[in-house]
Amino acid sequence: MARLGILLGLLMASCFTFCLSHKNSEFALTNPEKSSTKETERKESTAEEELDPKVLEVFHPTHEWQALHPGQAVPAGSHVRLNLQTGAREVKLQDEDKFRSNLKGLKKGKRLDIDANTYTSQDLKSALAKFKEGAEMESSKEDKEREAKVKRLFRPIEELKKDFEELNVVIETDMQIMVRLINKFNSSSSSLEEKIAALFDLEYYVHQMDNAQDLLSFGGLQVVINGLNSTEPLVKEYAAFALGAAFSSNPKVQVEAVEGGALQKLLVILATEQPLTAKKKVLFALCSLLRHFPYAQQQFLKLGGLQVLRSLVQEKGTEVLAVRVVTLLYDLVTEKMFAEEEAELTQETSPEKLQQYRQVQLLPDLREQGWCEITAHLLALPEHDAREKVLQTLGALLATCRDHYRQDPQLSRTLVSLQAEYQALAALELRGGEDDGYFRELLGAVSSLLEELR
Ligand SMILES: *[C@@H]1O[C@H](CO)[C@@H](O)[C@H](O)[C@H]1NC(C)=O
Ligand SMILES: *[C@@H]1O[C@H](CO)[C@@H](O)[C@H](O)[C@H]1NC(C)=O
Repeated sequence: MARLGILLGLLMASCFTFCLSHKNSEFALTNPEKSSTKETERKESTAEEELDPKVLEVFHPTHEWQALHPGQAVPAGSHVRLNLQTGAREVKLQDEDKFRSNLKGLKKGKRLDIDANTYTSQDLKSALAKFKEGAEMESSKEDKEREAKVKRLFRPIEELKKDFEELNVVIETDMQIMVRLINKFNSSSSSLEEKIAALFDLEYYVHQMDNAQDLLSFGGLQVVINGLNSTEPLVKEYAAFALGAAFSSNPKVQVEAVEGGALQKLLVILATEQPLTAKKKVLFALCSLLRHFPYAQQQFLKLGGLQVLRSLVQEKGTEVLAVRVVTLLYDLVTEKMFAEEEAELTQETSPEKLQQYRQVQLLPDLREQGWCEITAHLLALPEHDAREKVLQTLGALLATCRDHYRQDPQLSRTLVSLQAEYQALAALELRGGEDDGYFRELLGAVSSLLEELR
């Protein structure tokens, strides 16, 4: 019981210390003795798989491996691995783990939700919050005594570090964690499973702009870019997953990635036969590399990127990718338009950037390579949100593709039937009390296109 008390004290005291004096620093606590695959509550990437954080269901592991579904939270102390056959993450109970069973005994039935391997200050805080919830409900004398004990445990971080070391727990900075993950991934003695787990963990850290730039500074970014060359589809997939996060809205990293050959490698993967899941993540990485970076867009066109995307969209069974491709094109077209508009309005944009945008000859290439027809045909997709994206894109390409659209009898038939469908749906919506609903908006887009093409 004494050891448990100390541990509780450490958790509480360290949380307060972090909150009070290290608001912005990120620490993670790692137990070096356990090198098993970790990774539990972290959600799959943002734009990638959209999960509703509100429906975080808790998974109850047994002593057998069981598949973990997206959005499920794993209780502390579970062992998680990636099944390379199915691509599913699997969970079971950690077998002999004294550290863990001690924690469990701490509060009968009320678990502290922290992983045996990695804790962030956030984990500690939420573990503490949960613990306090429980504690308030039964404020016994025993609890008060414990509280007093905890208060005596407020100590400087250096002292805490020593205590953690005694418990075989060290404090690592994000930078140290990334170096460790890159070494794991780069090491020829790591198994495939370990490499993928390293990339998966890395993705979490490089969402932060500073971390992604640090990754660059010690050569880790290039190691991950080279991972796109791997002969293992899963390595390609998870390298792209981490890169997509690192590139996102991070110009410094985007520049280095283009210099490091990321663009060619991503396009090669999209142009060759690969599992759909790998292509999805590679397309995601390509999007974050191109967005708001006209130089990369220019290189993309030079490397024949539009032809690669066209083949991708025309493959069978890739509708999901087709909608993402169309969305990317829409983003690129409108981005350039906004750059022009902004320059006109403010005269404050850096003229260099505008010049770069002017060298991106996207619209003529789109027209020449048959994208007017491709986008028009995609309007036949059954999902409303896919149609919404396609309608947006048709609008953005209108000036370029008007004559193609006018001469396309299939397109006008589709538009007329969509108009009828959305009139009915918008009427229902209106009756339900929504006067600026989703279907009404779609109806507006369909009608104005019809108007334009008349
Ligand atoms: C990755 O491994 C190679 C060869 O094993 C080595 O030369 C290189 O320095 C390593 N890179 C990093 C960033 O650790
Ligand atoms: C990666 O593959 C490309 C061809 O797909 C090749 O040109 C390049 O040299 C390879 N790079 C590395 C680092 O192996």
